[in-house]
Amino acid sequence: MTAIAVLGSTNMDLVAYVARAPGRGETVTGRELRTVPGGKGANQAVAAARAGGEVVMIGAVGTDEYGSRLRTELDHAGVNTELLHTVAGPSGTAHIVVDDDGANSIVVIPGANASVTTLGPGGRAAIAAAGLLLLQLELPMTVVTEGARTAKERGVRTILTPSPVQPLPEDLVDAVDLLIPNEHEAAELTGHRDPHAAAQLLLRLVPEVVITLGRKGCLYAARGGEPVLFPAPEVTAVDTTGAGDTFVGTLAVALGEGRSVPEAVAWASSAAAICVQRHGASTSMPYRSEIDAA
Ligand code: RIB
Repeated sequence: MTAIAVLGSTNMDLVAYVARAPGRGETVTGRELRTVPGGKGANQAVAAARAGGEVVMIGAVGTDEYGSRLRTELDHAGVNTELLHTVAGPSGTAHIVVDDDGANSIVVIPGANASVTTLGPGGRAAIAAAGLLLLQLELPMTVVTEGARTAKERGVRTILTPSPVQPLPEDLVDAVDLLIPNEHEAAELTGHRDPHAAAQLLLRLVPEVVITLGRKGCLYAARGGEPVLFPAPEVTAVDTTGAGDTFVGTLAVALGEGRSVPEAVAWASSAAAICVQRHGASTSMPYRSEIDAA
């Protein structure tokens, strides 16, 4: 089995469910508050482990009670947490509003994630020993770039989720094999709302791109090939939080098993479709048997 290294964030998600998200300066009354383990890195790690991957997580939690819950959640999912450091201070938190269409908006406070500024010998060794590296942008850019460069030197395939979206340094994108933005991130990175146009521009930076398009599915494009639009299964979403992370974690497992990109994308789309029908991030991620059954 190909090992997957995840260099990324852990956050406790504080999720407010409301009929409609408040506008600027507005107060609305919500229905319910849930506290759910999340963070883009941890979500991708949990999704990959539940899909059958062998996963090691590199990151940090704080010394607050969220920190131990975040670690336990990863341990329960079967993720190797030996390189998940505990640092003095609060864990990362995400303040999430989910509306009745299942759409969300998120504010992340990095907490312990901000302390992960370099890989250290353990992190470098874990990446070198992996077949795939998953990166997002909730850790400092210095360590994300160091992770990507380390992977490139060792011939490890790197997948980057450019979220929260921000300008991508050249030495980072040079080391990325597959970029997976959502449609908003793709538009922000390229200035083009049309995913086909955005994909062509992103292919100047990286060899392969998947732009996730929510209920419209996703667009896969590779240098020198025709772009392919994959439809999403039709489902009713109650909470889209973590759907992108589920897609990436599951896709990584399928690619690590040597499946073709179309097959891997179809499998990952089924996993994301299951995720959006449930509440929360890590809590909504499906197990391999559920994905296969779908
Ligand atoms: O991608 C979803 C995740 O983004 C949430 O779990 C939250 O922690 C934020 O990092």
